[in-house]
Amino acid sequence: MFFDRPDSGELAILVHLELPQFANTDDPREFEELVLSAGGDPVEMLSGKRSAPHPKYFIGTGKLEELQDLVRTHEAELVIFNHELSPSQERNLEKALECRVLDRTGLILDIFAQRARTHEGKLQVELAQLEHMSTRLIRGWTHLERQKGGIGLRGPGETQLESDRRLLRARIKTIGKRLDKVRKQREQGRRARSRADIPTVSLVGYTNAGKSTLFNAITNAGVYVQDQLFATLDPTMRRISLPDVGAAVLADTVGFISNLPHRLVESFRATLEEAASADLLLHIIDAAAEERLHNIEQVDLVLEEIEAHEIPRLLVYNKIDLMGDMAPRIDRDDQGRPVAVWLSAQQAAKDGSGIEMLFTAIADLLTEDIFHESICLQASMGSLRARLYRQNAVQSENFHSDGSCELEIRLPEVDLKRMLSAEKINLQALINSKDEGSGVQRLAV
Ligand code: GTP
Repeated sequence: MFFDRPDSGELAILVHLELPQFANTDDPREFEELVLSAGGDPVEMLSGKRSAPHPKYFIGTGKLEELQDLVRTHEAELVIFNHELSPSQERNLEKALECRVLDRTGLILDIFAQRARTHEGKLQVELAQLEHMSTRLIRGWTHLERQKGGIGLRGPGETQLESDRRLLRARIKTIGKRLDKVRKQREQGRRARSRADIPTVSLVGYTNAGKSTLFNAITNAGVYVQDQLFATLDPTMRRISLPDVGAAVLADTVGFISNLPHRLVESFRATLEEAASADLLLHIIDAAAEERLHNIEQVDLVLEEIEAHEIPRLLVYNKIDLMGDMAPRIDRDDQGRPVAVWLSAQQAAKDGSGIEMLFTAIADLLTEDIFHESICLQASMGSLRARLYRQNAVQSENFHSDGSCELEIRLPEVDLKRMLSAEKINLQALINSKDEGSGVQRLAV
């Protein structure tokens, strides 16, 4: 199989095997996209079938000879496997092929390294790269001219490549500490937002679904968008104002990808944690993609993995401009709750079409769980009153001569429930005592 050749890039031979244990994953087309996205120049893909990986070379010895020929014929600088290789397989292959060999994890890390924008993102990439390298340090690198850079050799970890294991371990420790610090800062920011009752809406979705384009259309913020996989690595936050909701934070997140090695999911957990603490997830879907069902499933799996699967979710079917004559619309369930919005982020960026509908759906979902009522607290309930104040939930307060007070509160229903259960107080009691005591009407929500 031959590919269109981009202007520059390292000449790479790709290897993709069909293995029974990886059925339906590691799509070779996506693999090719990943390599192009890393700036590689894929000249040929070697495919084959095996019942199990060969312990020494991953591929069988016959295939290895074919690969040697291909490397020689194309004068390839790099061989990239669409699989995870063990350190010794990678080493054996490099020896036999006399060129650099990269596995899927190394490739994805390289893409991450190129896309990282924030300090935290860069640290995460460096840590993941160092950890990936630390198992592979013993190989003989001398023949490979690693100083030149190139796929798998770029990124913040590059200068550490020549280090010995001891140095590497020290570096891993330092970065780990720095990351902890950045994470704590972020956690503080998150808590401040939640105290201020500002809801966070996170965009999640399969890579290339159009998250950054939609993020741009919504915020007009000039976020970095590229026609490549992983244009987004770090969550980018913008404060927006939504009709009927008020201030909200919009967060763009890293594009999900199928079969992300588990270790990488771990390394990028902090990036994805932003999604796990959102009040609402917008799941952006490339509606025109053939494999859209597969992509939706993959995103659902990752959301489950980061424990974000119970967060209310709105499906945003994007790219309707590619689907014939289709206007933006909202789908609602039997109760009138929005389930999906169909739009074209690209069109929305030009003329705003569909954005208003999207805002309506977001507002409907965000406000349905807000408790906004007047309640009556007895004098003995001072601790609950203090909690409500800490949460910034009190909008007005009126004291009565018997020591009770009437509070107009506004906060997410889940937060109120949590406070009430900590205080062992029943909500009905607060509303009843108010109705009996002061005769004040409940506020319309
Ligand atoms: P990652 O950062 O890789 O996760 O990608 P993403 O989901 O942020 O996608 P991005 O916004 O970078 O868009 C990916 C590609 O799809 C770009 O080439 C966009 O121009 C294109 N795209 C986005 N929205 C639309 C749309 O509504 N219609 C069409 N035709 N193309 C779109």
